[in-house]
Amino acid sequence: MLFKQQALLRQKLFVLGSLAIGSLLYLVARVGSLDRLQPLCPIDGRFGPRGQDEIPLRALQFKRGLLHEFRKGNATKEQIRLHNLVQQLPKAIIIGVRKGGTRALLEMLNLHPAVVKASQEIHFFDNDENYAKGIEWYRKKMPFSYSHQITIEKSPAYFITEEVPERIYKMNSSIKLLIIVREPTTRAISDYTQVLEGKERKNKTYYKFEKLAIDPNTCEVNTKYKAVRTSIYTKHLERWLKYFPIEQFHIVDGDRLITEPLPELQLVEKFLNLPPRISQYNLYFNATRGFYCLRFNIVFNKCLAGSKGRIHPEVDTSVITKLRKFFHPFNQKFYQITGRTFNWP
Ligand code: A3P
Repeated sequence: MLFKQQALLRQKLFVLGSLAIGSLLYLVARVGSLDRLQPLCPIDGRFGPRGQDEIPLRALQFKRGLLHEFRKGNATKEQIRLHNLVQQLPKAIIIGVRKGGTRALLEMLNLHPAVVKASQEIHFFDNDENYAKGIEWYRKKMPFSYSHQITIEKSPAYFITEEVPERIYKMNSSIKLLIIVREPTTRAISDYTQVLEGKERKNKTYYKFEKLAIDPNTCEVNTKYKAVRTSIYTKHLERWLKYFPIEQFHIVDGDRLITEPLPELQLVEKFLNLPPRISQYNLYFNATRGFYCLRFNIVFNKCLAGSKGRIHPEVDTSVITKLRKFFHPFNQKFYQITGRTFNWP
């Protein structure tokens, strides 16, 4: 009798255990493949061959091995052919601004199943030596992707380099251009902090921000200081507008991307004609980092490297006020040209 009851109990436990494991496996598989279950809209009206939309894009990307090997150029011709993978020139470029949040923007856009990022800054258009290598060299630097995906690269030096607009125009006059900006004084201090950290790493000393930003002879803002010049957004944008109409640019609010990334990303999806696929599920606030981090699926999430989100040195308030006053008229012009207004002081 006792033996019979024990056998019955074991049987029940076995059935319950199997059910629990089965449900768990189903849940993992379902969440991990959410992206591929949602139909992908074609980009620029281009459809991949029938059935290609069902390729488990995100799942494939996170099978770590395969696409990683493709990106390193280690894929066999057979693998590339089998998956119809191609290295495409970018359809959109994050051209700047340095310290505006360019890395966060690229990584967040890469959450979208139809976007593939070029991981490294390629510096093709701003570096004469690279540019001389030709467009095929540039294309070969791009990650492998499915033909209906779009490739995006970011090189913030493009925004401030004289030759770049013409060079990009020659490659693709209808390319979409993303510019992420932050309040100009904060951006300049962030820029300074990055350089300072580099000097400290090499055990070198460096000037205080105040000394670089203010000309000691005139007590005026030092416009020769690169961190200041880069923050005069309108001056740089005007050079770009000689080649591209304003409609080809989208301005991203880098300060809002820090505090409230989703609405900013949704605006970019719209600008790129992508179906809205990035959701709150993909972004979670990490209190330790003090920033939003990225969630690709139930098993894979990541925060940006520690070099993003540095603590800025304290800067004399009179210098901050002077800089803000200096940038004010340029900011007004920037709002006027772009049609996007910020609450910058
Ligand atoms: P700070 O280091 O000044 O805080 P870039 O990638 O263009 O170099 O920009 C770096 C800036 O991105 C950082 O500047 C940080 O504030 C900002 N940023 C925006 N979103 C972020 C995120 N989710 N994680 C880390 N940094 C982020």
